[in-house]
Amino acid sequence: MKRITIIMMLLTVATYVFSSVGSTPPPEGSADERIILTPPPPHEPRVNCAKVFGLRPGSECRFLVATSGDRPMTFSAKGLPKGLYINKETGLVSGRTSRRGEYAVVMTATNALGSDQRTVRFKVGDEIALTPPMGWNSWNCWGKTVSQERVMASTRAMRDKGLINYGWTYINIDDGWQGIRGGRHNAIQPNKKFPDIKGLADSIHDMGLKMGIYSTAWVITFAGHIGSTCPNADGTYPWITKGNHNDIYKLVTDDDPTGDRASWRHHYYGDYSFTDNDARQWAEWGVDYLKYDWYPNDYDHVEEMNVSLRKQKRDIVYSLSGICLYSLAPAWARLTNCFRTTGDITDSWTSLLSIGFNGQQHWTGFNGPGHWADPDMLIVGMVGWGDKLHPTRLTPDEQYTHISLWALLAAPMLIGCDIAQMDDFTLSLLCNREVNDIDQDPLGVQAYPVKVDGDRQTWVKQLEDGSLAVGLFNLGEDSTTVGFAPKDFGILGEVTVRDVWRQQDVAAIKHTERFECRLPKHGCRLLLLRPKDCKSYINYPGQKGWPNHKG
Ligand code: GLA
Repeated sequence: MKRITIIMMLLTVATYVFSSVGSTPPPEGSADERIILTPPPPHEPRVNCAKVFGLRPGSECRFLVATSGDRPMTFSAKGLPKGLYINKETGLVSGRTSRRGEYAVVMTATNALGSDQRTVRFKVGDEIALTPPMGWNSWNCWGKTVSQERVMASTRAMRDKGLINYGWTYINIDDGWQGIRGGRHNAIQPNKKFPDIKGLADSIHDMGLKMGIYSTAWVITFAGHIGSTCPNADGTYPWITKGNHNDIYKLVTDDDPTGDRASWRHHYYGDYSFTDNDARQWAEWGVDYLKYDWYPNDYDHVEEMNVSLRKQKRDIVYSLSGICLYSLAPAWARLTNCFRTTGDITDSWTSLLSIGFNGQQHWTGFNGPGHWADPDMLIVGMVGWGDKLHPTRLTPDEQYTHISLWALLAAPMLIGCDIAQMDDFTLSLLCNREVNDIDQDPLGVQAYPVKVDGDRQTWVKQLEDGSLAVGLFNLGEDSTTVGFAPKDFGILGEVTVRDVWRQQDVAAIKHTERFECRLPKHGCRLLLLRPKDCKSYINYPGQKGWPNHKG
């Protein structure tokens, strides 16, 4: 009897090793092969937007029902609070409402081939950014050479290449846009690389997207432009008065004639604060997102900008960049919507490893709807931090690992490459609705490394509907076999295992049975575990709010 049981068990393991490797081979040995795993989207509509959206009473609403599928398409929304309307042709929900509360809005998209629905919970209250922001930022591609045309090129490409249909929303201008103070608010005005910033914001909004901007609490940003505090009461900066700047108002010094990363002695707080002036100006331009950046971030200046932004009748996502001190994590979670947990990422495996796998797990308790730990921007596609761009130096497997981990971490997803030059492979990494759904899950739980076995790591993220997202990672230099039994994650009963990148169910196993697969060097497998009976969880330590579903 016993022998039969052992043979049966061995057969079961073999079956799952085979089924996971045999039927849908992982990209093993594919170090340089750019295998697209994301299936092409169907021609029928698929509503891909976030399932929850936060809006403050009285603020202008802009929520796009991001949907893939053939155009023309029509949209409808059932259950919107009074004051909000959907544009039937574009799917953009706009207007203003003063009615606090939670509204289950059924969004329907229809084309000649069919229709699709998704219920979106509109929460009208104090909290915004209820899912991690998704968008683009200029720094990892253009660095300080960012310009209005370059921003517009990525904006247009976000629309034309269809990223907009997968929830990509923000177009964020990083350091390099600033000129000097002026205008009716004596606020930072753009430099000559941005001849019409209001026009730029309008064009971004016209496409259904949102605009972000950058500043610092220091007198000078990392790239040598003026910040939101000033040594002079009238908003003039001594180094500009003295002529120590170039034609785009960047600080030029003897020790740093290029003005890049202007020397640390210029990085101090000015006695006079212009945060109200700047916030007013941004609201007037239609800015939707602020990256506020210095190091080390101090409580008072972080709070001051929070207050200035909240005075505006506009929902502006407040993203703090640092490195933010862990000792003040509760303050960052309360005062800001995103907080940078790391130094600057670069397009190398070492950088991805140290930022992604070695520095995020202790932020888990502070991550959640409205306040997201930020492990920095994405490093796929054409990057360069300046005029000359190059394809990311991450291998294809490392890129799958990167996007899978960021989705599991519920990280803000900010594309760092020039979207205008984006190829199909990179596009497939960013337009997989099931991967994005993991990042955007309304529960907002950050994954936790439940098992670290040498270079093999297993990260688990609980999702709102009671399923689990599981990332199996091989951080080592050789291919290896990884696996688990659902009981390792506290599941009892039967489980469907879905390969998220391929969007295919690949196994159905009992909680005691093992699922195994081979992973190439630096590769991963992103899985979704759907317990048949989602009440069948047992507790396991280390996971916030477990179990936290309504059954
Ligand atoms: C810091 C930030 C980067 C970028 C630059 C701009 O280094 O960490 O993300 O914003 O400043 O100067």
